Amino acid sequence: MTYKVKCWECGNEITDNYLDACPRCNGSLTIEMDLSHLEGTKPEDLRSRPLGVWRYSHFLPINSDPVTLQEGGTPLYDCDKLADEYNVRELQVKFEGANPTGSFKDRGMTVGVSRAVELGCKVVGCASTGNTSASLAAYAAKAGLKCVVLLPSGKVALGKLAQAMFFGAKVVTVDGNFDDALRVVRELSHSGDLYMLNSVNPFRPEGQKTLAFEILDQMDFKLPDRIVYPVGNAANIWAAYKALKEWQSLGWIDELPMLTGVQAGGSAPLVNSFAHGQEDFKAVENPETVATAIRIGNPASGRKALKAVYDTGGVMTAVSDREIIEAQFLFGRKEGVGCEPASAASLAGVKKLLDEGKISRKERIVCVCTGHVLKDPDTVIANCGQVLKTPATADAVRKAIGG
Ligand code: F0G
Repeated sequence: MTYKVKCWECGNEITDNYLDACPRCNGSLTIEMDLSHLEGTKPEDLRSRPLGVWRYSHFLPINSDPVTLQEGGTPLYDCDKLADEYNVRELQVKFEGANPTGSFKDRGMTVGVSRAVELGCKVVGCASTGNTSASLAAYAAKAGLKCVVLLPSGKVALGKLAQAMFFGAKVVTVDGNFDDALRVVRELSHSGDLYMLNSVNPFRPEGQKTLAFEILDQMDFKLPDRIVYPVGNAANIWAAYKALKEWQSLGWIDELPMLTGVQAGGSAPLVNSFAHGQEDFKAVENPETVATAIRIGNPASGRKALKAVYDTGGVMTAVSDREIIEAQFLFGRKEGVGCEPASAASLAGVKKLLDEGKISRKERIVCVCTGHVLKDPDTVIANCGQVLKTPATADAVRKAIGG
């Protein structure tokens, strides 16, 4: 594929493969794909390949055999019972927990690690609230690369930590939160210690574009009114916008669904600026939330995410920890699908926006549920009742469960 790496802020073309920001203005980077060879085609033409990230290879900046674990191709569930509970016309959930390491990060990582291999890198690394590290560790193992992950101390869900350790990454917890860990890993990348695969690396969001492509594909290209994302470091919602704009530029879709972002109340810098119609945001010191995946005060792609929301006529909102856990359990118990707390923020956000009358009950809505319930077993157990204990007789069990 032909493409250029550019500064998203000033348009400067970037030729150094190892930069993570513009040397002229410090703006964040993006990739401009040359899609001219697709003119006159239609999205159905891609359907001879299985649903998954690499169905969309024409939109991905990789020109070698990818490092893949068969990521993507995740279910889009019709959630009629949840739609009834929320009193909305149509609610579907794109369940990213069904990816190889249990989160949407695998979409970006198959592209990011393929890029690392193309460049001949030997050591890859990232800062993470957990899922990025689990995903990078797995893809690095597959590619035979060394991997270092930096995590905020004490605030990473158990399943994610176990995955990063299991796949053989060097796991380092740093004193501080995700924003501190990202600062340090950027330094390590600038000094050449590692190739950084956080989403400030513009190859990562390219893979994450496929989440939006798949939703449209699975809906037979009949657009939903709204797609709702949980927002942390803010690259995923931006990737959706980029994906939609690329398909629009080819005439594959006419309009764009309203991209809607949900942050956790204790970590909501973008919601604050959205409320004031601002393009920029002020970082939140000491972010806090039960949804540790999105416990981020200074989102690296924050400006891009705001643009995605403004340009599509979407909205941003914040939800409380209680609303998040309620949505997580309602989803699990009505639909039989388990997602982690950060993922449930998208559902909680929809409920809140409907209740506040900020979005219409006549809409067809897709919520992106980004990670699997088993990522964070501690939170589940802390929010469930006690396990019943009985002697080993049928009578005792009958009595314990109330008949
Ligand atoms: N949901 C989950 C489960 C996540 O792990 C993340 C981000 C998000 C939503 C937010 O996505 O950052 O693109 O806005 N997790 C990162 C990590 C930060 O390190 O795993 P975003």
